[in-house]
Amino acid sequence: MEVILTDSASLAADAVANEILDALETKPNLVLGLATGSTPIEVYRRLGAAHHKEGVDFSKVHTFNLDEYLDLPGDHPQSYKYFMQEHLFDHVNIPQDNIHFPPSEGDNLVRRCREYEQKIREVGGIDIQILGLGSNGHIGFNEPTSSLKSRTRIKTLTAKTIKDNSRFYSDGEEQPVVASTMGIGTIMDTKRILLQAFGKKKAEAVRNAVEGPISSLCPGSVLQLHPLTTFFVDSEAADLLTMKDYYLATIRENDRLRAEGRL
Ligand code: F6R
Repeated sequence: MEVILTDSASLAADAVANEILDALETKPNLVLGLATGSTPIEVYRRLGAAHHKEGVDFSKVHTFNLDEYLDLPGDHPQSYKYFMQEHLFDHVNIPQDNIHFPPSEGDNLVRRCREYEQKIREVGGIDIQILGLGSNGHIGFNEPTSSLKSRTRIKTLTAKTIKDNSRFYSDGEEQPVVASTMGIGTIMDTKRILLQAFGKKKAEAVRNAVEGPISSLCPGSVLQLHPLTTFFVDSEAADLLTMKDYYLATIRENDRLRAEGRL
């Protein structure tokens, strides 16, 4: 696991977006795993700008979103489909048929969750997965105590997640408490993971995920077993990390080796 201590969320967004754009140059049919929430918005803004200003082509890209609230239709402003449309899909040229969400309406959800996994396999797996981190350590909607090998399925949200996300709902508005989500096993199968975490309220989850024991109580901690994961954390989110000097030294040495053309 690589930990990048970033001076600002904006620098992290630059790095994440640039890695996606570089990958797109070598693989136009890139398969992206996408997150919603506040954290990735700036990355999506940069991808939209790259399309508009530099003509970057997304027409062969496939996307798979991590999660969606159960029974919120796509035109509901709090649905993740709506969020993605607003923040990314309206600003790039990804064909509608290439955009995928885990099933969240109708029946046969177990079977359709299996089909979601199948669709990911059919396009050759997810090349780059964008992740945020819940303040309780969740990734996707894999809440604490989720099976570390879980696949796409229906999950009930914890009271903490419901409270964290209540900021998006007005008083009296009904908030969903169940969602469909890629599993932890699904996320672990992705080839590259770029996780961003910003702000004080993520500090404990970042410490547990990066330096804690691998435990289903902090689902993000399983990323310690992923061969190619980078955590981008700002100073507030990094506050409780004990090995900050080492992470900084690693960045320094890697930059030096890269400048020497040896990496
Ligand atoms: C959303 C998702 C969640 C969020 C996490 C952080 O698709 O998968 O795991 O990444 O809850 O949310 P924000 O970014 O709003 O702090």
